[in-house]
Amino acid sequence: MTALLDAAERMGHEELRALQLERLRATLRHAYTHVGHYRAAFDRAGLHPDDCRSLADLARFPFTTKADLRDNYPFGMFAVPEEQVRRIHASSGTTGRPTVVGYTQGDLDTWADVVARSIRAAGGRPGQKVHVAYGYGLFTGGLGAHYGAERLGCTVIPASGGMTARQVQLIQDFRPEIIMVTPSYMLTLLDEFERQGVDPRATSLKVGIFGAEPWTQEMRREIEERFAIDAVDIYGLSEVMGPGVAQECVETKDGLHIWEDHFYPEVVDPFTGEVLPEGAEGELVFTSLTKEAMPVIRYRTRDLTRLLPGTARVFRRMEKVTGRSDDLVILRGVNLFPTQIEEIVLRTPAVSPHFQLRLTREGRLDALTVRAEARAGATPEERAVAAASVAAAVKDGIGVSVGVEILDPETLERSVGKFRRIVDERDRPGS
Ligand code: DLL
Repeated sequence: MTALLDAAERMGHEELRALQLERLRATLRHAYTHVGHYRAAFDRAGLHPDDCRSLADLARFPFTTKADLRDNYPFGMFAVPEEQVRRIHASSGTTGRPTVVGYTQGDLDTWADVVARSIRAAGGRPGQKVHVAYGYGLFTGGLGAHYGAERLGCTVIPASGGMTARQVQLIQDFRPEIIMVTPSYMLTLLDEFERQGVDPRATSLKVGIFGAEPWTQEMRREIEERFAIDAVDIYGLSEVMGPGVAQECVETKDGLHIWEDHFYPEVVDPFTGEVLPEGAEGELVFTSLTKEAMPVIRYRTRDLTRLLPGTARVFRRMEKVTGRSDDLVILRGVNLFPTQIEEIVLRTPAVSPHFQLRLTREGRLDALTVRAEARAGATPEERAVAAASVAAAVKDGIGVSVGVEILDPETLERSVGKFRRIVDERDRPGS
């Protein structure tokens, strides 16, 4: 196995920490020298890049937020002349200006390397075929996966998202071993296999590399059983690179190893910003260590997780992301993440994994309705039992009352990429 690892994956702890410090200091200098935003922010904090003498010193430097990126729209965060930028990606977000990110040729190479490493950690090998069903375009998923798979020496099938019936056809005809797709779109593909009368367990697929949205252990079990594959988690975000910032290893499936030779993680208290010790849950913060076009210093991801020691690799792990602070629903004072509902829905017999959460306002109080589809063939009695059991599990497990509707199969909107779990109708008159 070690023969398959690259040089950084074979480093010892001390060597890794020394490399990180060297790269961190270079990144701070690069950002300070070439990006007006960082120069101003460091100056305001009374700090110079040379004040970073140890990895712990990073905590003295200011955070960067999505708002900083938006304020510098479109290219104000770039640290190289525009003609050295080889690629631009952007994430649309829900409101206002998109967040723009840029890559030099060197960045694109690093990105391909870390995604290749990710696919290998997931069990992929050169010579295999990779069906990429992440969307191609400004979203980093499709192209990020694509160049990584090529870098590993795989054959890429650039399917992108959508045209679900054709995806199923391509998987049967081209016989890929690996699929890279959002977990919610994998469920849409599952339905389509069944609609076409094709046994999803009988395909050529061996490994699924799923990310771009939160998903639970229950969802892993569902996908692994229904498709007879290994389902592993890939994490990343455009601001830091794209997919391939962290990856779960197929041999342990115990959280995601962060490719720490390129991305330095911290977990902070989301309210005070204080750095938390290993093992404590908080907001994940990243500092890029090798990026040229758009270095990021202490970028607040809003993703909630904890850092754990390495297992299958020397690098630290992050626990599966349970949710983003943006997805947090506060219902009558109780905090709730969609992933908590996913766990319950997937444990409930007679209910399919397709569900959405509808937020409405009743008088002055917010109300949440779990809308889940029945599995095909579920009887009215089974559906009634399922509705009561989901409501009871939410009440017992999370501590709040929600409405539950069990819908006919095939009634909810289907995912073609990142799925919108929460439908917020609180602003609608009469809701
Ligand atoms: O979603 C990059 C990506 C593409 C990752 C394909 C994995 C696979 P953005 O569109 O910028 O980039 O969205 C980043 O998506 O901050 C998380 O909230 C969420 N996210 C990404 N991967 C995971 C994951 C891509 N494995 C945002 N688990 C991040 C949970 C994830 N959430």
